[in-house]
Amino acid sequence: MKILGLSCGTRNGNNDTMCRVALEEAQKLGAEIEFIHVFDWDIKYCSGCVACSRGLVMGKGMICTQKDDYAALFDKMAEADGVLIVDPIYESGGSGLFHVLCDRMGPGHDMGMLMMADGQLKEQGKEGLDPKYLKKKAISFVGIGGSDWACRVETDHAMLAMSPAWKVIDNDYFSWSKDVIMQDDKVERMKEIARNLVEAAADIENAEWKGKEGACPHCHGNNFYIFPGTTKCVCELCGLEGTLEVVDGAFKFKFAPEDEHKAHDTLSGKKLHGDDIFQNEGRLMNLFKDPEFKARKEHYTSVIAPTPSPSVG
Ligand SMILES: Cc1cc2nc3c(=O)[nH]c(=O)nc-3n(C[C@H](O)[C@H](O)[C@H](O)COP(=O)(O)O)c2cc1C
Repeated sequence: MKILGLSCGTRNGNNDTMCRVALEEAQKLGAEIEFIHVFDWDIKYCSGCVACSRGLVMGKGMICTQKDDYAALFDKMAEADGVLIVDPIYESGGSGLFHVLCDRMGPGHDMGMLMMADGQLKEQGKEGLDPKYLKKKAISFVGIGGSDWACRVETDHAMLAMSPAWKVIDNDYFSWSKDVIMQDDKVERMKEIARNLVEAAADIENAEWKGKEGACPHCHGNNFYIFPGTTKCVCELCGLEGTLEVVDGAFKFKFAPEDEHKAHDTLSGKKLHGDDIFQNEGRLMNLFKDPEFKARKEHYTSVIAPTPSPSVG
């Protein structure tokens, strides 16, 4: 069994150290381990070209136009049984590098899209996708903060697991942690997170969430967008709509049970979203031929030119 640890922090900084704490514990339990300091790898921004989702829909398999180390990094994650991501907290959320990973993971690694593409390839008599891309996987996240600004970090982190539908086991963060290696409770908690991940990876079919119960009973999310002037809100993580109510002295997110199949982390929710996007893309294809659309685009492209980058030109 293989556990892969990724750190998005500075070289040999607190995130690297805490990732190594967990990996050492996993190794003690018999897991094969691997550590990646993500900044050492060449990971470019998502360019927004959507070749990945188009490639899957058109039966061409997994494509990305960026030529860098991302595909190799994703392969490492795909081959592991359990993945641990340790990430510095920036501006109360995940780091920029972490967000780049999320974008690169985006539509092209969505489990709904991958399963559809695999089926299509096989229907055409071709070999399907490599089964490692369809494998169930356990993943845990830890955010490390230098202060106590952290209220978006769990939601940011769990978002990475949304696309490939990997099972989140723990999603925790440590505040005031510039000296984290000296804080025994946090070191101990890191080891516990490693033990939970190893246990989950060893029996993925029965793997369960090991963190604290969240306000959202579906995904354990604790961040909600409130529609202004209403009592309606949406769970920022799973996308279910409902209301927040006080139950036994604590906020509880309530949604209609018949809506649960729409949650973004379920295959049924992914299918609904995929169908909506497919319809919208079809509408847009026709719009590109519309003379009024072309005229409007040409007008705004011609009136204002962007300032070139001083370094790239
Ligand atoms: C751009 C930037 C933004 C930061 N924002 C936060 C923050 O919002 N909350 C927080 O607790 N720490 C914040 N920090 C502190 C980092 O979380 C801390 O420096 C990091 O965990 C150190 O990790 P490392 O030693 O692995 O590099 C910020 C640091 C940087 C560089």
